[in-house]
Amino acid sequence: MEKSVELERVLGLKDAVGIGLGAIIGAGIFVVTGVAAGVSGPSFIVGLLIAGVIASFNALSSAQLAAVYPQSGGTYEYGYQLLNPVLGFSAGWMFLISKLSAAGVVAIGFGSYFHQLVPLFSPIMYSVTAVILLIVANLAGIQKAGRLNLIIVSLTLLALIYFIVAGIPEIRTHNFTPFAPFGIKGIAEAAALMFFAFTGYARIATLAEEVKSPEKTIPQAVIITIISAIVLYILIAITAVGLIGSEAMASVKSPLQAAAQHASMPGLSIIITIGAATAMLGVLLSQILGISRMMFAMSRRKDLPGFLEKIHPRYKVPQTGILITGAVILVLSVFGNFEFIVRSASFSILLYYSITNLAALQQPAHQQRFGKFIAIAGLMGCIAMSLSLPLKVIVTGLMLWVIGFILRFVCKKAF
Ligand code: ALA
Repeated sequence: MEKSVELERVLGLKDAVGIGLGAIIGAGIFVVTGVAAGVSGPSFIVGLLIAGVIASFNALSSAQLAAVYPQSGGTYEYGYQLLNPVLGFSAGWMFLISKLSAAGVVAIGFGSYFHQLVPLFSPIMYSVTAVILLIVANLAGIQKAGRLNLIIVSLTLLALIYFIVAGIPEIRTHNFTPFAPFGIKGIAEAAALMFFAFTGYARIATLAEEVKSPEKTIPQAVIITIISAIVLYILIAITAVGLIGSEAMASVKSPLQAAAQHASMPGLSIIITIGAATAMLGVLLSQILGISRMMFAMSRRKDLPGFLEKIHPRYKVPQTGILITGAVILVLSVFGNFEFIVRSASFSILLYYSITNLAALQQPAHQQRFGKFIAIAGLMGCIAMSLSLPLKVIVTGLMLWVIGFILRFVCKKAF
């Protein structure tokens, strides 16, 4: 009887853009910019721009697909419907791997930022508490989760805009030289790392069955979200490098906060710390939303155990998926290795978007509203960035991919 319960279609354009921005702005801009500055110097800003342009091509492919296939699961569904079950499953599995590991990163990030604001308990205590509270928010229904997300995202945006406005007048041009000490290789690696910061632009497509008029709303939301993120990130990166330089950014775990401490505007450092904490919360919230819906979509096709398909009759959410997602994030946030997780998450999400572009290329001509060039460019960008990652990360990603197929085989036999 419970199987006939459906997800609730309540999210409008504002909620959809909010979920996109909530999913995007997080550890990438607040933490990974420091790692990217270390591998590329000030020219990581170019890497950031390259990652943003490739992300936009991918976003346009996602938007084009979501307009025609507005089902929960995003690329997992497009892969199945336009390509083949192997690629469909691969997309879903790589999404789960990448988003679960990214959620571990942001949970760790939240703990360390919140600890700076309230140093009463250990950072890990804050990480664990945040994950538990967000699981509860997710269980309370998509509408409540969407509202909470809008509040969180607004706080993050206010903090970042204040950082830019306060920091730009204090930029020192000498902080931009030498601009590219590690050459093209450094810029390429920075682009691959910074791609992580843009991921999340198509999160709303994973929630398609909870969006009002999804054919129109999702493409609009994806495009608004990615353009806003690119503009915001570039301004933030220029401000941060201009304030303290790339070496100082690379030497700390909280590069934006280090930059904010350098500016003379009162309260900027504390505001950016609050913004970082809310950003991590927003990403975590939207990761739990997306992962649980992906599990829901995958169990519907029996690629994951059938119990993940159950929707709560009152709250209309896939409750088992939410609980399992939360449990895995808790484990990752306690035991995870930050930098390795970021790189592995980048590799698996690049595979996911490669499949998005392949699916977009398979759409009939009348559905190709942005033309084949966009999908081809997106695909090339994803392949190039995956290859620029260290071999260890690529091998780990490929092994996780194979493990997915083994689990799928076991699931199909056992459930
Ligand atoms: N884009 C998300 C972040 O930067 C995953 O945290």
